[in-house]
Amino acid sequence: MKKITLLIGTFAGSLLLALDASAAGKIDFKKDIASILEKRCIECHGPDKKKGGLRLHTKDEAVQDEIITPGKPDESEVYARIVLPKDDDDIMPPKGDPLTTAEQQKIKDWISQGAIWPSGFVIGGAALAKKEEGPGPAATPDEKKAIAELEKAGVSVRQIAQKLNWTYVNLRVIGSKFDAKVFAQLARVQTLQELNAAGVNLTAADIANIGKLKNLKRLHLEHTTVDDKTLAPVKNLANLEYLNLFNTKVTDAGLNQLASLKKLKSLYLFQTKTTGKGVAALKKQMPKTYIDTGWDLKELEKIKAEIKAREEARKKKEEEEKKKAEAKKKADAEAKKKAEAKKKAEAKKKADAEAKKKAEAEAKKKAEAAKKKPAAKKPAAKKPAPKKAAPKKKADDKKK
Ligand code: HEC
Repeated sequence: MKKITLLIGTFAGSLLLALDASAAGKIDFKKDIASILEKRCIECHGPDKKKGGLRLHTKDEAVQDEIITPGKPDESEVYARIVLPKDDDDIMPPKGDPLTTAEQQKIKDWISQGAIWPSGFVIGGAALAKKEEGPGPAATPDEKKAIAELEKAGVSVRQIAQKLNWTYVNLRVIGSKFDAKVFAQLARVQTLQELNAAGVNLTAADIANIGKLKNLKRLHLEHTTVDDKTLAPVKNLANLEYLNLFNTKVTDAGLNQLASLKKLKSLYLFQTKTTGKGVAALKKQMPKTYIDTGWDLKELEKIKAEIKAREEARKKKEEEEKKKAEAKKKADAEAKKKAEAKKKAEAKKKADAEAKKKAEAEAKKKAEAAKKKPAAKKPAAKKPAPKKAAPKKKADDKKK
């Protein structure tokens, strides 16, 4: 009797499960399975860790014989592990609660239905992409060397943000003329994401070097000599998101080259030789790009003021240095004079001391000679009698 009840119970259970499965219908991998794997398995079996030599975030790594055997949950280690008793050493996940029976069932059904995994789907892909954006590649020894050389030339390569390897360089605040070497060195710094060369004297070779910065996202070329021809290397910057060409000689022909910049989000074209027609044509090719043909006049004034201030600061510095050099020259001459005077004084002191010594020696000699030969007694000179002072008249009397 007992046995029969048990049988019926098991049967009813199976029936319920079967009903459940049919109610769930076809399992949707993205909706039903990916979230379970992402929440409970990927931290140990994903891009970061490969516990037990297993990764479960891509189809190629997860759906393989005996791990996940399509159509055969009973020959799939993944299923076998998740349905083990809670206290079994081999249960997955090894920490936290076991998967719920509903989750276990979903995985079983999904495997039974052929373990369909949409091609190219990566579990945690969004987070992964974000991470790849992340700190960026560490500088290679050659990049470090180039950065050191740039620093020596007065060009600072700075981190975009703390904990990031991506860098930026702002030439605009440093000057307007740079040696061609600086751009050759910059071209070696592949961590560069932002370059501000506004107002800088750029040669075609310099721009060609800028065109080698494959990771560049933001490029300021406003107020430079760039034109259609010299702009050409910029179209190689596949990651470029921001390009500023304000106040350059670029025309519609130059614009045309930019259509290949698939990631470009903003393009600034105020005071270029481009026309409304050319811009409209480009807009058609790059519908997602924000193309600015106007310019905030305040920004324009700001740039002009900055350039002027930079020029003035340079002049001031030069003058100060000149003054400093002159002051130093003067101080040096004075110090020399003083040193000479001191030398002279010392020589005099020495001569005096010698003369004194000589005089003393002579005096001594004389004294000794005098002792030996007593001098003849001189007759005492007769002192004249002191004159008697005439009595003074009293001033009071005279007044009265
Ligand atoms: C906290 C870490 C951790 C989590 C989370 C985790 N595992 Fe594991 N897994 C391991 C370790 C460690 C091993 C290797 C030791 C072993 O085989 O038990 C392993 C082994 C495995 C194996 C055996 C691999 C083989 O080649 O034999 C499978 C299958 C597995 N895990 C599936 C899963 C599934 C499915 C999940 C999520 C439901 C999961 N694991 C969650 C740590 C984890």
